[in-house]
Amino acid sequence: MTSPAPAQPRILSGMQPTSDSLHLGNYLGALVNWVGLQEDFDAYYFVADLHALTVPTDPADITRRSRVTAAQYIAGGVDPERSAIFCQSHVREHTELMWVLACQTAFGEASRMTQFKDKTARGHNANVGLFTYPILMAADILVYDAARVPVGDDQRQHLEITRDLAERFNTRFGDTLVVPEPHILKESARIMDLQEPTAKMSKSGSSDKGLISMLDEPKRIAKKIRSAVTDADGEIRFDAEAKPGVANLLSIHSALSGTPIPQLEAGFAGRGYGDLKQEVADVVVTAIEPYQQRMAELMDDPGELDNILAKGAARASEVAAATRDRVYERVGLLAAQR
Ligand code: TYM
Repeated sequence: MTSPAPAQPRILSGMQPTSDSLHLGNYLGALVNWVGLQEDFDAYYFVADLHALTVPTDPADITRRSRVTAAQYIAGGVDPERSAIFCQSHVREHTELMWVLACQTAFGEASRMTQFKDKTARGHNANVGLFTYPILMAADILVYDAARVPVGDDQRQHLEITRDLAERFNTRFGDTLVVPEPHILKESARIMDLQEPTAKMSKSGSSDKGLISMLDEPKRIAKKIRSAVTDADGEIRFDAEAKPGVANLLSIHSALSGTPIPQLEAGFAGRGYGDLKQEVADVVVTAIEPYQQRMAELMDDPGELDNILAKGAARASEVAAATRDRVYERVGLLAAQR
């Protein structure tokens, strides 16, 4: 038996605090959807600080970036009165559920996860935490009975293993966990690197010129967009295979301006790439300016931010503890007298 359905279905998502600024891919692929969904869902948005430990990082960087990441959720429009914003490490049920799920995960299944395979193939000295990363992510989601998980396309495989683990648990122990649906928006599922538009925009991408950080100077952002790689054919139309650079610029424009891509193609008919880049730069800078302003205000008051995180963790723990208890009972652990 799952817990009684909440008044609104739940959603859950998170980002790793691995940088001092989110990038445009995080913003369009995830954060914008989080903001839209908080109206209709009981929403839980967390900073995946435990996941960030899978890569060796200076402790001071993790501390600073955890606050900065949470603040950017709010700067992007997540309302802390409506949605719980918290740090993963503040809600211990994530790791408690993870252990039980780890004991349901086949070694071969975890070995096949592409993130682990890619990182080890690129010569990263992988630790066991990186290997079990997807199981912690499954616990993050399942501990809230989340019906949907708004993420970019790169997280698809992680959601598949989450669904598999929930289904396996339910088959073995009876209906206990909610099997979540990914919530991936087509237009912004994969924002590409501006210099290498066949690779996703990412903080570990090949050059800083291909990455738009949300906290970059607006002038610098406009310059990066004006030097984005396109192609030689000169026609502005959406073709992600043949014209990945132009397609990426059209996706960014459409995701931010709300103008459907066919309408953009019609509007740019007969015009050059210079015009397209200028307009995309304008659209991005217009969206980023209020975000940066709000961010500066939030970082001025770290005490208030810590209060928000504490309230968020308390709200999250209530839900998470109920799931943890249910799962512990199902697998036969003797109930703790609390
Ligand atoms: P992370 O921190 O790499 O990315 C955060 C979110 O940004 C999306 N994203 C993109 N979307 C479109 N285009 C891009 N170029 C792009 N780059 C990143 C990601 O899909 C993600 O939604 N494993 C997760 C963090 C996590 C999590 C969770 C997410 C831990 N537990 C539970 C959801 C639910 C990660 O590393 O995201």
